Amino acid sequence: MKNIPFFTILIITSLCIIIAQGKLGEYVYIDYVTIEGLEYFKSHNLSSPSSALNSINSTALKALKNNQPYSVINTTVTPPNNNKQEYISYAPYFWPFCGCDGKNVTDPETQCLYKQIDGKVNGDVEILSDPHDSTSMVRDVLSLSISYLLYNDEDFAKKAVELLDVWFVNNKTRMFPDVNYGQVVRGPGEWKGRPEGILDTRLYVYIPAAIRILTNSNTWNHNDNIDKGVKTWFANFSNWLMKSELGKNESNAENNHATFYVAQLATYLNFTGRTKDANDLIGKFANTTFKDMILESGEQPKESSRRKPYHYQCFNLEALTYIAIFSQKINGTTNLWETKTKYNATIQNATDYLIHLNSTEDKTVLLPALYKVRDYYGDKFGVYADTMIKLLKETAGDSKWWTVYSPKSL
Ligand SMILES: *[C@@H]1O[C@H](CO)[C@@H](O)[C@H](O)[C@H]1NC(C)=O
Ligand SMILES: *[C@@H]1O[C@H](CO)[C@@H](O)[C@H](O)[C@H]1NC(C)=O
Ligand SMILES: *[C@@H]1O[C@H](CO)[C@@H](O)[C@H](O)[C@H]1NC(C)=O
Ligand SMILES: *[C@@H]1O[C@H](CO)[C@@H](O)[C@H](O)[C@H]1NC(C)=O
Ligand SMILES: *[C@@H]1O[C@H](CO)[C@@H](O)[C@H](O)[C@H]1NC(C)=O
Ligand SMILES: *[C@@H]1O[C@H](CO)[C@@H](O)[C@H](O)[C@H]1NC(C)=O
Ligand SMILES: *[C@@H]1O[C@H](CO)[C@@H](O)[C@H](O)[C@H]1NC(C)=O
Ligand SMILES: *[C@@H]1O[C@H](CO)[C@@H](O)[C@H](O)[C@H]1NC(C)=O
Ligand SMILES: *[C@@H]1O[C@H](CO)[C@@H](O)[C@H](O)[C@H]1NC(C)=O
Ligand SMILES: *[C@@H]1O[C@H](CO)[C@@H](O)[C@H](O)[C@H]1NC(C)=O
Ligand SMILES: *[C@@H]1O[C@H](CO)[C@@H](O)[C@H](O)[C@H]1NC(C)=O
Ligand SMILES: *[C@@H]1O[C@H](CO)[C@@H](O)[C@H](O)[C@H]1NC(C)=O
Repeated sequence: MKNIPFFTILIITSLCIIIAQGKLGEYVYIDYVTIEGLEYFKSHNLSSPSSALNSINSTALKALKNNQPYSVINTTVTPPNNNKQEYISYAPYFWPFCGCDGKNVTDPETQCLYKQIDGKVNGDVEILSDPHDSTSMVRDVLSLSISYLLYNDEDFAKKAVELLDVWFVNNKTRMFPDVNYGQVVRGPGEWKGRPEGILDTRLYVYIPAAIRILTNSNTWNHNDNIDKGVKTWFANFSNWLMKSELGKNESNAENNHATFYVAQLATYLNFTGRTKDANDLIGKFANTTFKDMILESGEQPKESSRRKPYHYQCFNLEALTYIAIFSQKINGTTNLWETKTKYNATIQNATDYLIHLNSTEDKTVLLPALYKVRDYYGDKFGVYADTMIKLLKETAGDSKWWTVYSPKSL
């Protein structure tokens, strides 16, 4: 059974922002945030009442004052290869089992076998700083980039570039372009990364989005290294994703792991000028892995078998809708919105299934996908809008951050 940390969806959704006007308003998807979209918000003065923009603003202001850029070399746990520039995270659902002799154990991390309990997060994975720093870096870079454009303040761009430089470019502080120690299972013997660890970098799809905005800034244009440096990183990371054993295994997954792999790799390939390869990757996914993902009823069997079936089906849908929009935007040969599984089901069927599913899990995690589904397929019966309004109410006061908006007309 593949495994994804349940808490990570909280991270990704907190990176999604709603800049709503009125009930559903005009909006931009944060993962496809564009200069045009932001300019529209600016020129229509849509920003002032929005709690989402306020959140972006306060995140950016905090980032501006933070003089300690995130870096993997600040790691709290040195990876097994003794090189701090290697990213490391622990598998979140694995727990030590020490058997009858548990009492004698002095160091469970090296003496006990770790076994998986799906959906149950072992809180001590939190001792690692790399996953936190990685997420904070993406969140800050994106917030700073958006603030730079909205408030016309070069200081925001400068800080974003500094963060990108330390994480991706500077030889001494950057992360190596691989995830060789992602979701490590602790225990006796050598600690190794698992293919599942590649999920850890899924938020990096926001980096090309942020850079699309930053390329307008003086800071970006007066820095000889940053564009080349970041692109070199993503070119190398793309190669690692395609050629390493971990990368190949992850691409052969049958569930959300494969979907997020394709979302990432397609984005990075396009970002580094390999749009055709991105298109081919999506075409292959649509012809193979995707074919088994959605049953006629709309149920996603590879996700519904998990301990958090609603959560995981939404999680996969989030990546599927990302790829679907991407496939449209590159004008490729595949349109994932229109692609049918071998059960004749589409992304829309999977969404409808979840809308009507009687589940006690938190249903608000459907929201990010719902915006996109409604925009593509339309909403003849108003069911999507009704569901969104209902779910948005459930998030009110708690999470104002969901989907970022761009005017639909763009
Ligand atoms: C934008 O909205 C704010 C607050 O609602 C208002 O004070 C300001 O005058 C508006 N600006 C423009 C250009 O309409
Ligand atoms: C952003 O935050 C600063 C500092 O708190 C404040 O002066 C400014 O008005 C804020 N801008 C918006 C659009 O909220
Ligand atoms: C993390 O590392 C960077 C790069 O060396 C450094 O500038 C920063 O101060 C460090 N942060 C902390 C919290 O130590
Ligand atoms: C664990 O402790 C008990 C009692 O102190 C001892 O008899 C036993 O041999 C120990 N087991 C191991 C594996 O060290
Ligand atoms: C960075 O590392 C690469 C390869 O490891 C090396 O070729 C390059 O000279 C280094 N650059 C700096 C500034 O140290
Ligand atoms: C990045 O890619 C370049 C060109 O393929 C290669 O020379 C370099 O060794 C790679 N660096 C890393 C750290 O993978
Ligand atoms: C996917 O399948 C279609 C229909 O069989 C075919 O035309 C297309 O070439 C395939 N694409 C890829 C990338 O395999
Ligand atoms: C799947 O969606 C299509 C429209 O996209 C619809 O015609 C079909 O009835 C749906 N299937 C089920 C089982 O709801
Ligand atoms: C693909 O890359 C180009 C060039 O960097 C960029 O303009 C475009 O927005 C990217 N497309 C997507 C869907 O990310
Ligand atoms: C895709 O096609 C549309 C409509 O023809 C066009 O406006 C857009 O520029 C194209 N995008 C790319 C990346 O080729
Ligand atoms: C899918 O739809 C096609 C065309 O409508 C039909 O021929 C085929 O039997 C359907 N397959 C399944 C599994 O329902
Ligand atoms: C939903 O499930 C709960 C618990 O299984 C059940 O009590 C309730 O009747 C169900 N509601 C509907 C509308 O099926």
